[in-house]
Amino acid sequence: MHPMMNMGIRAVRAAGDFIVRCMDQMQGLSVTEKSRNDFVSEVDRRAEQIIIENLRNAYPDHAILAEESGASGNSDYQWIIDPLDGTTNFLHGFPQFAVSVALAHKGILDQGIVYDPLRQELFTASRGDGAHLDGRRIRVTRLNTLEGALIGTGFPFRTLDRLNAYVDIFRQLTAVTAGIRRPGAASLDLAYVASGRIDGFWEYGLEPWDIAAGTLLIREAGGYVSDINDASPEVKSGNIVAGNPAVHDLLQELIRATDGAT
Ligand code: IPD
Ligand code: CA
Ligand code: CA
Repeated sequence: MHPMMNMGIRAVRAAGDFIVRCMDQMQGLSVTEKSRNDFVSEVDRRAEQIIIENLRNAYPDHAILAEESGASGNSDYQWIIDPLDGTTNFLHGFPQFAVSVALAHKGILDQGIVYDPLRQELFTASRGDGAHLDGRRIRVTRLNTLEGALIGTGFPFRTLDRLNAYVDIFRQLTAVTAGIRRPGAASLDLAYVASGRIDGFWEYGLEPWDIAAGTLLIREAGGYVSDINDASPEVKSGNIVAGNPAVHDLLQELIRATDGAT
Protein backbone atom coordinates (compact mmCIF):
# COMPACT_ATOMS: atom_id res chain seq x y z
CA MET A 1 0.00 0.00 0.00
CA HIS A 2 1.19 3.52 -0.81
CA PRO A 3 2.63 5.05 2.42
CA MET A 4 0.56 8.23 1.94
CA MET A 5 -2.58 6.08 1.69
CA ASN A 6 -1.58 4.46 4.95
CA MET A 7 -1.29 7.83 6.69
CA GLY A 8 -4.56 8.99 5.16
CA ILE A 9 -6.35 5.91 6.49
CA ARG A 10 -4.94 6.47 9.95
CA ALA A 11 -6.20 10.07 9.85
CA VAL A 12 -9.74 9.25 8.65
CA ARG A 13 -10.13 6.44 11.18
CA ALA A 14 -9.05 8.74 14.02
CA ALA A 15 -11.55 11.40 12.91
CA GLY A 16 -14.32 8.84 12.34
CA ASP A 17 -13.88 7.31 15.81
CA PHE A 18 -14.03 10.79 17.32
CA ILE A 19 -17.24 11.64 15.43
CA VAL A 20 -18.95 8.42 16.57
CA ARG A 21 -17.97 9.05 20.21
CA CYS A 22 -19.55 12.51 19.94
CA MET A 23 -22.93 11.03 19.00
CA ASP A 24 -23.54 10.31 22.69
CA GLN A 25 -22.93 13.94 23.63
CA MET A 26 -25.08 15.86 21.19
CA GLN A 27 -26.80 17.99 23.84
CA GLY A 28 -25.09 21.32 24.25
CA LEU A 29 -23.11 20.93 21.05
CA SER A 30 -22.29 24.34 19.62
CA VAL A 31 -23.57 24.68 16.05
CA THR A 32 -23.32 27.68 13.73
CA GLU A 33 -24.90 28.35 10.34
CA LYS A 34 -22.21 29.26 7.75
CA SER A 35 -24.86 30.22 5.23
CA ARG A 36 -28.52 29.35 4.74
CA ASN A 37 -28.97 25.66 5.72
CA ASP A 38 -25.20 25.15 5.87
CA PHE A 39 -24.25 24.14 9.39
CA VAL A 40 -20.95 23.52 11.12
CA SER A 41 -20.45 22.13 14.61
CA GLU A 42 -17.49 21.89 16.93
CA VAL A 43 -17.38 18.19 15.92
CA ASP A 44 -16.66 19.13 12.27
CA ARG A 45 -13.90 21.48 13.43
CA ARG A 46 -12.29 19.07 15.88
CA ALA A 47 -12.47 16.18 13.39
CA GLU A 48 -10.70 18.39 10.87
CA GLN A 49 -7.96 19.24 13.38
CA ILE A 50 -7.45 15.54 14.10
CA ILE A 51 -6.96 14.80 10.39
CA ILE A 52 -4.66 17.77 9.86
CA GLU A 53 -2.56 16.94 12.95
CA ASN A 54 -2.08 13.36 11.72
CA LEU A 55 -1.12 14.46 8.21
CA ARG A 56 1.11 17.32 9.32
CA ASN A 57 3.04 15.04 11.67
CA ALA A 58 3.89 12.77 8.76
CA TYR A 59 4.13 15.36 5.96
CA PRO A 60 4.85 18.81 7.41
CA ASP A 61 5.52 20.27 3.94
CA HIS A 62 2.32 19.17 2.22
CA ALA A 63 -0.41 21.67 1.35
CA ILE A 64 -3.95 21.32 2.68
CA LEU A 65 -7.38 22.31 1.46
CA ALA A 66 -9.84 21.65 4.25
CA GLU A 67 -13.52 22.57 4.40
CA GLU A 68 -13.49 24.36 7.75
CA SER A 69 -10.00 25.89 7.89
CA GLY A 70 -9.38 26.56 4.20
CA ALA A 71 -6.20 26.34 2.17
CA SER A 72 -2.68 26.37 3.61
CA GLY A 73 0.84 25.53 2.46
CA ASN A 74 2.40 25.38 -0.96
CA SER A 75 3.49 22.03 -2.29
CA ASP A 76 3.01 19.64 -5.22
CA TYR A 77 1.09 17.49 -2.74
CA GLN A 78 -2.28 18.74 -1.52
CA TRP A 79 -4.62 16.95 0.88
CA ILE A 80 -8.31 17.74 0.28
CA ILE A 81 -10.35 17.19 3.42
CA ASP A 82 -14.02 16.99 4.32
CA PRO A 83 -13.86 16.06 8.01
CA LEU A 84 -17.58 15.32 8.34
CA ASP A 85 -19.57 14.95 5.16
CA GLY A 86 -23.24 14.88 6.01
CA THR A 87 -23.26 17.35 8.91
CA THR A 88 -27.02 17.87 8.72
CA ASN A 89 -27.55 14.10 9.03
CA PHE A 90 -25.09 13.93 11.92
CA LEU A 91 -26.78 16.78 13.81
CA HIS A 92 -30.14 15.01 13.50
CA GLY A 93 -28.76 11.61 14.49
CA PHE A 94 -29.54 10.33 10.98
CA PRO A 95 -26.95 7.60 10.50
CA GLN A 96 -25.39 8.49 7.14
CA PHE A 97 -22.19 10.53 7.16
CA ALA A 98 -18.53 10.06 6.31
CA VAL A 99 -14.99 11.37 6.47
CA SER A 100 -13.49 12.11 3.06
CA VAL A 101 -9.79 12.68 2.36
CA ALA A 102 -8.00 12.83 -0.98
CA LEU A 103 -4.44 13.55 -2.01
CA ALA A 104 -3.67 15.35 -5.25
CA HIS A 105 -0.18 15.45 -6.75
CA LYS A 106 0.46 18.37 -9.13
CA GLY A 107 -3.29 18.80 -9.38
CA ILE A 108 -4.01 15.16 -10.28
CA LEU A 109 -5.96 12.99 -7.86
CA ASP A 110 -3.64 10.30 -6.54
CA GLN A 111 -5.24 8.82 -3.42
CA GLY A 112 -8.84 8.85 -2.23
CA ILE A 113 -10.44 7.63 0.99
CA VAL A 114 -14.06 7.74 2.11
CA TYR A 115 -14.74 6.28 5.55
CA ASP A 116 -18.19 5.50 6.95
CA PRO A 117 -17.49 5.36 10.69
CA LEU A 118 -20.86 3.86 11.65
CA ARG A 119 -20.66 0.88 9.29
CA GLN A 120 -16.86 0.97 9.53
CA GLU A 121 -16.66 0.74 5.76
CA LEU A 122 -13.44 2.02 4.24
CA PHE A 123 -13.47 2.91 0.54
CA THR A 124 -10.00 3.52 -0.93
CA ALA A 125 -8.56 4.27 -4.35
CA SER A 126 -4.99 4.79 -5.52
CA ARG A 127 -4.40 6.11 -9.01
CA GLY A 128 -3.73 3.22 -11.39
CA ASP A 129 -4.35 0.63 -8.71
CA GLY A 130 -8.14 0.28 -8.65
CA ALA A 131 -10.74 1.00 -5.98
CA HIS A 132 -11.37 -1.11 -2.91
CA LEU A 133 -13.89 -1.52 -0.10
CA ASP A 134 -12.24 -2.92 3.01
CA GLY A 135 -9.45 -4.27 0.83
CA ARG A 136 -11.73 -5.99 -1.72
CA ARG A 137 -11.80 -4.72 -5.30
CA ILE A 138 -14.95 -2.79 -6.25
CA ARG A 139 -16.37 -1.92 -9.66
CA VAL A 140 -19.23 0.13 -11.04
CA THR A 141 -22.32 -1.69 -12.35
CA ARG A 142 -22.71 -2.86 -15.95
CA LEU A 143 -26.27 -1.66 -16.51
CA ASN A 144 -26.54 0.25 -19.77
CA THR A 145 -29.99 1.84 -19.56
CA LEU A 146 -31.70 4.29 -17.26
CA GLU A 147 -34.52 1.76 -17.03
CA GLY A 148 -33.82 -0.31 -13.94
CA ALA A 149 -31.16 2.10 -12.66
CA LEU A 150 -30.96 3.22 -9.04
CA ILE A 151 -29.78 6.83 -9.04
CA GLY A 152 -28.41 8.91 -6.17
CA THR A 153 -28.72 12.66 -5.89
CA GLY A 154 -28.47 15.60 -3.52
CA PHE A 155 -31.45 17.96 -3.34
CA PRO A 156 -30.73 21.68 -3.70
CA PHE A 157 -30.99 23.24 -0.23
CA ARG A 158 -28.61 26.21 -0.02
CA THR A 159 -29.31 28.23 -3.14
CA LEU A 160 -32.53 27.42 -4.91
CA ASP A 161 -31.74 29.12 -8.22
CA ARG A 162 -31.70 25.80 -10.09
CA LEU A 163 -34.72 24.32 -8.36
CA ASN A 164 -37.01 24.36 -11.40
CA ALA A 165 -34.47 22.60 -13.61
CA TYR A 166 -33.73 20.18 -10.79
CA VAL A 167 -37.39 19.26 -10.31
CA ASP A 168 -37.81 18.70 -14.06
CA ILE A 169 -34.83 16.35 -14.13
CA PHE A 170 -36.17 14.58 -11.05
CA ARG A 171 -39.58 14.15 -12.68
CA GLN A 172 -38.12 12.59 -15.82
CA LEU A 173 -35.78 10.28 -13.95
CA THR A 174 -38.57 9.18 -11.61
CA ALA A 175 -40.55 8.13 -14.68
CA VAL A 176 -37.80 5.97 -16.19
CA THR A 177 -35.48 4.68 -13.46
CA ALA A 178 -35.97 2.11 -10.70
CA GLY A 179 -35.75 4.90 -8.13
CA ILE A 180 -33.89 7.89 -6.75
CA ARG A 181 -32.12 8.09 -3.37
CA ARG A 182 -30.98 11.15 -1.37
CA PRO A 183 -28.92 9.72 1.50
CA GLY A 184 -27.27 13.07 2.41
CA ALA A 185 -23.50 12.60 2.24
CA ALA A 186 -22.12 13.21 -1.26
CA SER A 187 -18.79 11.47 -0.65
CA LEU A 188 -20.63 8.27 0.30
CA ASP A 189 -23.01 8.64 -2.65
CA LEU A 190 -19.97 8.63 -4.93
CA ALA A 191 -18.43 5.70 -3.05
CA TYR A 192 -21.72 3.85 -3.62
CA VAL A 193 -21.46 4.47 -7.38
CA ALA A 194 -17.92 3.09 -7.26
CA SER A 195 -19.05 -0.01 -5.37
CA GLY A 196 -22.07 -0.68 -7.58
CA ARG A 197 -24.70 0.06 -4.94
CA ILE A 198 -26.15 2.75 -7.20
CA ASP A 199 -25.73 3.15 -10.96
CA GLY A 200 -25.37 6.91 -11.18
CA PHE A 201 -25.46 10.21 -9.28
CA TRP A 202 -25.98 13.90 -9.92
CA GLU A 203 -25.95 17.03 -7.76
CA TYR A 204 -25.55 20.78 -8.20
CA GLY A 205 -23.26 23.01 -6.17
CA LEU A 206 -20.79 20.63 -4.55
CA GLU A 207 -17.35 21.69 -3.31
CA PRO A 208 -13.93 20.12 -4.03
CA TRP A 209 -13.81 18.40 -0.62
CA ASP A 210 -17.21 16.76 -1.20
CA ILE A 211 -16.10 15.08 -4.42
CA ALA A 212 -12.30 14.67 -4.60
CA ALA A 213 -12.00 11.24 -2.99
CA GLY A 214 -15.26 9.95 -4.51
CA THR A 215 -14.18 11.01 -8.00
CA LEU A 216 -11.01 8.92 -7.83
CA LEU A 217 -12.98 6.00 -6.37
CA ILE A 218 -15.37 6.01 -9.32
CA ARG A 219 -12.70 6.41 -11.98
CA GLU A 220 -10.62 3.61 -10.49
CA ALA A 221 -13.77 1.47 -10.32
CA GLY A 222 -14.30 1.91 -14.07
CA GLY A 223 -16.87 4.71 -13.98
CA TYR A 224 -17.08 8.26 -15.27
CA VAL A 225 -17.31 11.55 -13.38
CA SER A 226 -17.77 14.91 -15.08
CA ASP A 227 -19.10 18.41 -14.87
CA ILE A 228 -22.77 18.63 -15.83
CA ASN A 229 -22.25 21.75 -17.90
CA ASP A 230 -18.69 21.47 -19.07
CA ALA A 231 -16.82 19.01 -21.29
CA SER A 232 -13.69 19.03 -19.10
CA PRO A 233 -13.07 16.00 -16.90
CA GLU A 234 -12.57 18.31 -13.92
CA VAL A 235 -15.75 19.20 -12.05
CA LYS A 236 -15.00 22.92 -11.90
CA SER A 237 -18.54 24.19 -11.30
CA GLY A 238 -19.34 21.68 -8.56
CA ASN A 239 -22.27 20.47 -10.67
CA ILE A 240 -21.50 16.80 -10.96
CA VAL A 241 -22.75 13.80 -12.89
CA ALA A 242 -21.30 10.36 -12.28
CA GLY A 243 -22.02 6.74 -12.99
CA ASN A 244 -21.00 3.63 -14.79
CA PRO A 245 -19.97 4.70 -18.32
CA ALA A 246 -23.36 4.11 -19.98
CA VAL A 247 -25.50 5.49 -17.16
CA HIS A 248 -23.20 8.51 -16.82
CA ASP A 249 -23.65 9.37 -20.50
CA LEU A 250 -27.42 8.87 -20.44
CA LEU A 251 -27.80 10.88 -17.23
CA GLN A 252 -25.62 13.70 -18.55
CA GLU A 253 -27.59 13.84 -21.79
CA LEU A 254 -30.93 14.00 -19.98
CA ILE A 255 -29.74 16.59 -17.45
CA ARG A 256 -28.19 18.85 -20.08
CA ALA A 257 -31.23 18.68 -22.33
CA THR A 258 -33.57 19.45 -19.44
CA ASP A 259 -31.41 22.08 -17.74
CA GLY A 260 -30.85 23.89 -21.04
CA ALA A 261 -34.57 23.95 -21.73
CA THR A 262 -35.71 25.23 -18.30
C1 IPD B 1 -22.99 18.16 2.21
C2 IPD B 1 -23.37 16.73 1.91
C3 IPD B 1 -24.71 16.67 1.20
C4 IPD B 1 -24.71 17.50 -0.03
C5 IPD B 1 -24.29 18.90 0.27
C6 IPD B 1 -22.93 18.93 0.95
P1 IPD B 1 -21.47 18.76 4.37
O1 IPD B 1 -21.72 18.23 2.83
O2 IPD B 1 -22.40 16.10 1.10
O3 IPD B 1 -25.02 15.35 0.80
O4 IPD B 1 -26.02 17.49 -0.56
O5 IPD B 1 -24.26 19.63 -0.91
O6 IPD B 1 -22.57 20.24 1.25
O7 IPD B 1 -21.76 20.22 4.38
O8 IPD B 1 -22.36 17.97 5.23
O9 IPD B 1 -20.02 18.47 4.54
CA1 CA C 1 -19.38 17.83 2.41
CA1 CA D 1 -18.32 18.76 5.91
